Amino acid sequence: MSVAKGGAVLRKVTVALGERSYPVCLGIDNLDQAGEFIARRTKATRAVVLTVSTVNRRYAPKLMRSLKAAGIRASRIEVPDGDATKNLRQVAKLYDAFLELGLDRSSVVISLGGGMVGDLAGFVAASYLRGMPFVQIPTTILSMVDASIGGKTGVNLKQGKNLVGAFHQPKLVWLDVGTLRSLPNRERAAGVAEIIKVAAIWDEDFFALLESDVEALMALDPEVLLPVLERACSIKAEVVSRDEREAGLRMLLNFGHTLAHAIEKLRNYRGILHGEAVAIGMVFAAERSETLGFAPSGTAERLRTLLERVGLPTEIPGFERKAYLEALRVDKKKRDSHIQFVVLRGIGRAETVPLSMTEIYPAQQRRAATGRSKKA
Ligand SMILES: NC(=O)c1ccc[n+]([C@@H]2O[C@H](COP(=O)([O-])OP(=O)(O)OC[C@H]3O[C@@H](n4cnc5c(N)ncnc54)[C@H](O)[C@@H]3O)[C@@H](O)[C@H]2O)c1
Ligand SMILES: [Zn+2]
Repeated sequence: MSVAKGGAVLRKVTVALGERSYPVCLGIDNLDQAGEFIARRTKATRAVVLTVSTVNRRYAPKLMRSLKAAGIRASRIEVPDGDATKNLRQVAKLYDAFLELGLDRSSVVISLGGGMVGDLAGFVAASYLRGMPFVQIPTTILSMVDASIGGKTGVNLKQGKNLVGAFHQPKLVWLDVGTLRSLPNRERAAGVAEIIKVAAIWDEDFFALLESDVEALMALDPEVLLPVLERACSIKAEVVSRDEREAGLRMLLNFGHTLAHAIEKLRNYRGILHGEAVAIGMVFAAERSETLGFAPSGTAERLRTLLERVGLPTEIPGFERKAYLEALRVDKKKRDSHIQFVVLRGIGRAETVPLSMTEIYPAQQRRAATGRSKKA
């Protein structure tokens, strides 16, 4: 495993939001120093760490020791793993536990794990006693570059994903990239899909860097991993700083997500990771961008090649067109409504355009089941 030893904070990115600004600190095997930084940033003397079993077993003991050493009395709660329990029932259980522990607004909520526990912990932190300080310690690539930055928190309803939530910015995001050593390959690739996404919409040089080093990134070579995570985090931070509430610019981060959400829905969120659906959705969106005259030809192929190098899927699952149209429709009552669709202007440049259903999903759209017909 090639993540080398390192210091507490090797790189730092700032999410600039005025007095709510916060740092994203990147280091290797730095969990033993997290407590000290959390104490400094929050002034808390009481904390609760929310985590999931694998991460709890491997990493929580080190974090708990470091909190104690920093003078923070910390409790630990393990929540069941998986998006199925990112729900209001779990939220209510956590409120009960918080009351029992006697936590108040001067206590800090710390999430240790992937985006699932981060979203859940963040939402509880946003709502318990109308808001408590919150710290993110993400342990998946996806949560390091995406979910932990930007303050979106929330839970799923049975009617859909992330339908209830709040904006609640953390006080600190602490990245220990050493924790990625235990992250399965498939989860790594799914996180890399979101890194490729920010490069594709924002920064062609970064995209070119990924093209030269993506295997080393997957192997967690620190020479590549650290600068790549730093760049991905800083793009997300910049977008969030300029558009915290998703009034415009932040929508670009939805590149590839229109179709991705439809695919996830049609697959009942089973057997496909979010990043994998996003990979398929990005190639689809890039192809549409070319066909509709927004992007030069070759754009989609460049994206597809990079995604396939990390083993991500790029072929659209073979559901009926009707099923896709149904799943894509945001407002079921408005049959001909337009959707804000993110198109590429080329690699590194994107924009949002309102498109009709047939522009997004034309009748001749190819799918895996109908065979792959290469575009001329
Ligand atoms: N708030 C946002 O802006 C935002 C953005 C993107 C995604 N999300 C949310 O994030 C969630 C997806 O995040 P995710 O991909 O991190 O999934 P996840 O939190 O479900 O983690 C994926 C799996 O990896 C395991 N895991 C985590 N860290 C590990 C480690 N270091 N070693 C071994 N195993 C580890 C987890 O236990 C889990 O089984 C979804 O709920 C999604 O809605 C939120
Ligand atoms: Zn995503």
